[in-house]
Amino acid sequence: MRIIFFAGKGGVGKTSIAAATGIKSAEMGQKTVIMSLDVAHSLSDIFDLNTRLLDQNRGRPIKVSKNLWIQELDIQEEIEQNWGTIYKYIANLLNTTGLDEILAEELAVLPGMEEVSLLLYINRFVQEKQFDVIILDCAPTGESLRFISIPTTLEWYIKKIFKMERTIAKYVRPVAKRIYNIPLPDDDYFAAIEYLFERLRGVDEILVNPQITTVRLVTNPEKIVLKETQRAFMYFCLYKMSIDAIIINRILPDDIQDAYFTDWRKSQRKYIKMAEQYFSPIPIFPVKLFKDEVLGYDRLGVLADQIYDGRNPLERFFKGEPYNLIKENGEYRLTMKLPFITKQDVELNKFSDELIIKVGGFKKHLLLPRQVAAAKKVKARLEGQHLSIYFKGDEHGQGKK
Ligand SMILES: Nc1ncnc2c1ncn2[C@@H]1O[C@H](COP(=O)(O)OP(=O)(O)O)[C@@H](O)[C@H]1O
Ligand SMILES: [Mg+2]
Repeated sequence: MRIIFFAGKGGVGKTSIAAATGIKSAEMGQKTVIMSLDVAHSLSDIFDLNTRLLDQNRGRPIKVSKNLWIQELDIQEEIEQNWGTIYKYIANLLNTTGLDEILAEELAVLPGMEEVSLLLYINRFVQEKQFDVIILDCAPTGESLRFISIPTTLEWYIKKIFKMERTIAKYVRPVAKRIYNIPLPDDDYFAAIEYLFERLRGVDEILVNPQITTVRLVTNPEKIVLKETQRAFMYFCLYKMSIDAIIINRILPDDIQDAYFTDWRKSQRKYIKMAEQYFSPIPIFPVKLFKDEVLGYDRLGVLADQIYDGRNPLERFFKGEPYNLIKENGEYRLTMKLPFITKQDVELNKFSDELIIKVGGFKKHLLLPRQVAAAKKVKARLEGQHLSIYFKGDEHGQGKK
């Protein structure tokens, strides 16, 4: 079993690259499913599927060629299948509080529903062993990487809130109904949440197992895109998911001589170099800008050849852990392996969400995840070949000495 995530900012080429990887994997004889989590689905466009076929197979994997299936998440369908009871309660609640019905339904699509649905699929596919390879085309990064934190959040919810809520609902329901005319969740709602949790069990272990799951970040050689890639990088690290490749897409080919592109090429070169520094030792896979959109099976095959250049696309391209970011006693600790350094070499600077580590002539910018960026105190310690950085105290002043 192999699971590969493709994540990155909107428009960088995630869907194309995920599809290209899926095609190669299927050609190698692996039963492969490509799943899209992007609301602006384009998998079906890329594979040129007709709408009738799509309608007939909503919410199910569609076979597109030998060993290859695609599956797009249809959130309305997901709601009916997975969220029926929970959704009904929330819509009902919103209705009673005076919102009009359409708005209530919109709002009842809870943030995170898509992500939880994705996790449900992953878990089911892994348990049913229907596929050898699952390729995931993530929604654009930014706000949408929450799915990684969902298993832990749900666990917390079930342990802390859920049991309490359930007891309260049992005793308060008859009274509250009479007085406030607000519906309280009934047993179906609780049962539905419990069932949902049951089906998510184990998915967190699958995601953090580097033998099974790795993440490939797709980026472009541009300032803003790279910045977001760095952030995503740290975020995946925080949740201990293993990143095994950085794919830099849309690089202008050397044979373009047109003076119009001179500046573009110069700045692209600069950002490619920066990316190599940022992400080292994770391997970088350069991909050039094609003459045209990359559509259809054959062109995607060409794209795959360019990305992997004869290598097995299912390989784990990077095995070490470049950073280890953990939370311990309410503080974060970032550890990285930096051989050949001495204490005098290290200089740390933190500007809001950015940490600059200078080690001799080597400078590393790390964009910190929100939780870590809030830390007020930063301390470094060198232990053998490992540099550990401690982040203490959040914006509420907790943890300050
Ligand atoms: N290397 C490339 N050269 C030319 N066009 C590309 C390249 N990579 C992606 N595209 C095109 O860019 C558009 C956006 O790509 P897509 O894979 O949908 O990005 P994302 O999924 O990240 O939003 C598509 O039209 C795709 O064909
Ligand atoms: Mg896409």
